[in-house]
Amino acid sequence: MLISLAEYAKLHDKSSDTLRRLAGRGAFHTAQKIGRNWVLDSNEEYPVQKRSPKNGVGNTRATVVSLFSGCGGMDLGFVGGFEFLGKKYPKTGFEIIWANEISPAACKTYEQNIGSHIVNADINDAIDQMPKTADVVIGGFPCQDISINGKMRGIKGERSGLYTYIVEAVKKIKPKIFIAENVGGLLLKQNEYSLRKILEDFNALGYEISYQLYRAVDYGVPQTRERVFIVGTKKGLPKFTPPQPTKKHPITAKEAIGDLEGLAQNEGFSHIWSLANVSGEQGNRRLLADRPGYTIRAECHGNIQFHYSLPRRISMREAARIQSFPDTFLFPCKLRETERQIGNAVPPVLAWHVAKSAKRIVSE
Ligand SMILES: C[S@@+](CC[C@H](N)C(=O)[O-])C[C@H]1O[C@@H](n2cnc3c(N)ncnc32)[C@H](O)[C@@H]1O
Repeated sequence: MLISLAEYAKLHDKSSDTLRRLAGRGAFHTAQKIGRNWVLDSNEEYPVQKRSPKNGVGNTRATVVSLFSGCGGMDLGFVGGFEFLGKKYPKTGFEIIWANEISPAACKTYEQNIGSHIVNADINDAIDQMPKTADVVIGGFPCQDISINGKMRGIKGERSGLYTYIVEAVKKIKPKIFIAENVGGLLLKQNEYSLRKILEDFNALGYEISYQLYRAVDYGVPQTRERVFIVGTKKGLPKFTPPQPTKKHPITAKEAIGDLEGLAQNEGFSHIWSLANVSGEQGNRRLLADRPGYTIRAECHGNIQFHYSLPRRISMREAARIQSFPDTFLFPCKLRETERQIGNAVPPVLAWHVAKSAKRIVSE
């Protein structure tokens, strides 16, 4: 239940001024401003505060190694410091010190938007160059073999077996916490064996393991995407508490992309769209203006959803919005490659919420 900041202050025996300052710094997951007043979920835990001479309350720097980084959707969320649909997602205090990705095009996008610490190589070749220490390891391992749109070969498929590199990285780095992300389909009956094997391998690392399905729409992403996050925390540290949903009412497609309706094609802004004909099997869906968008897929070969009111498929910028990328995030590549990078990404806004929960543990 949403309550006012003053009511929350009373519940926690704090002053409203302190809470306003914390809310302004993004210390609460569920706080949002309605007019001039803050409201937040009454169940939100009071944030752990740590003083750091450098960065102020609760914002000690923590280092992250990122695997299978793609264009950087998850990494952007982990670092924070962006705005989406008028809402600010402040810096989290995490710093990515090393990232790896096999696709040169995705690396180019990553470098332009996130940083030059990305190493463009096959993880098999790059793993020896990885830093020896970091507070956190993150990675959205390739999911084509698990996704319901893929061939469902589970972890025996070449690409999903790549989660073993996250296992390797955790063994080497011994981070305080690691976070592995994959498609919701990992929890389907067909993937029971894969899930069991993945959890077994992560459990053998001696970490507390938990996993949960997240509906991106519950966290302010205008999309019905579902993703699983598997989290491991070092024994002795507090348990990972998943972020509380922040949205009761989903952001609709019209709210997310309505302002782009009159905009002409613009390559630099990735406001370009596929002209693929309606195909027999997939990609015939039309967005509904008053509902969130459908899951944006990486390998849809131009058969991305149609606009809810215009006679065309959605543009790459509109797809990026539906994935909660800020408009300042640019994709310096052609249409199909952009489609792949956007579809592969963890929505930055969802990743930001997960990162904030992880930061509490790392700051302990
Ligand atoms: C699901 S995507 C990750 C997306 C990323 N987490 C994001 O939020 O943007 C998986 C990524 O793993 C990369 N990949 C696949 N095989 C790889 C390998 N052998 N070494 C390094 N990266 C690989 C793919 O190119 C793809 O970008």
